[in-house]
Amino acid sequence: MEVVICRDAAQVGIVAAEKVADRLRGRANPVIGLATGSSPLDLYAHLAKLVDDGALDLSQAYGFALDEYVGLAHEHPESYHAVIHRTVTEPLRMNPARVRVPNGMAADLVGAAQQYEEAIRAAGGVDVQVLGIGSNGHIGFNEPFTSFGSRTHRVPLTEQTRNDNARFFDSMDQVPTHALTQGLGTIMDSRTAVLVATGEHKADAVAAMIEGPVAIAMPASILQFHPDVHVVLDEAAAAKLASRDHFHKL
Ligand code: F6R
Repeated sequence: MEVVICRDAAQVGIVAAEKVADRLRGRANPVIGLATGSSPLDLYAHLAKLVDDGALDLSQAYGFALDEYVGLAHEHPESYHAVIHRTVTEPLRMNPARVRVPNGMAADLVGAAQQYEEAIRAAGGVDVQVLGIGSNGHIGFNEPFTSFGSRTHRVPLTEQTRNDNARFFDSMDQVPTHALTQGLGTIMDSRTAVLVATGEHKADAVAAMIEGPVAIAMPASILQFHPDVHVVLDEAAAAKLASRDHFHKL
């Protein structure tokens, strides 16, 4: 696990985007795994700048979102179908036909989850997985006590996660209760993972992920076993790392 501590969130976005771009360049059909939420927005903005400058071409790339709410129409502005289109597909000039999001509206969610796994396999597997981390240590929507071997599956969202995401909705009762998410096993299959975290509200989860025991109570701790994972933090998110002097500071 490589850990980089940046001055601020803007630098996190640039440093993380450069790592993602490095792994995607030179591949004929690169495959990028896509997190939603606030954390990767600066990363996507810098990737878009690389695309605009001609330093990166993602027109032949495949994209797979990590997760989607169950029962939220794809047209809803906070559905991850809509968010990924707005923040990734369009600005990174990706081919919309090659960018997929789990189908949280499917009548058969088990079947939709299996198809999603097959689509990732058919594309050749994920080259670079972009990740954020929840304040409770979730990655994707794999909440505490999710099996480390899990594949794409339907999950209930914890109250903490629903509260964290309530800012995107008008009222708490509009926040979905379930999601379809890539599993921890799916995420661990990625060749490279780049996790970004900023802000003091992430500091406890970040410290537990990097320094704590690998335990299903802290889903992100499984990344300690990932063969090529890069964690890019700002000072606030790194504040509770006992080992912070050990890591690379920019
Ligand atoms: C979203 C996802 C989640 C978020 C996490 C952090 O696709 O996979 O694990 O990365 O909830 O969310 P933000 O970045 O909004 O703090």
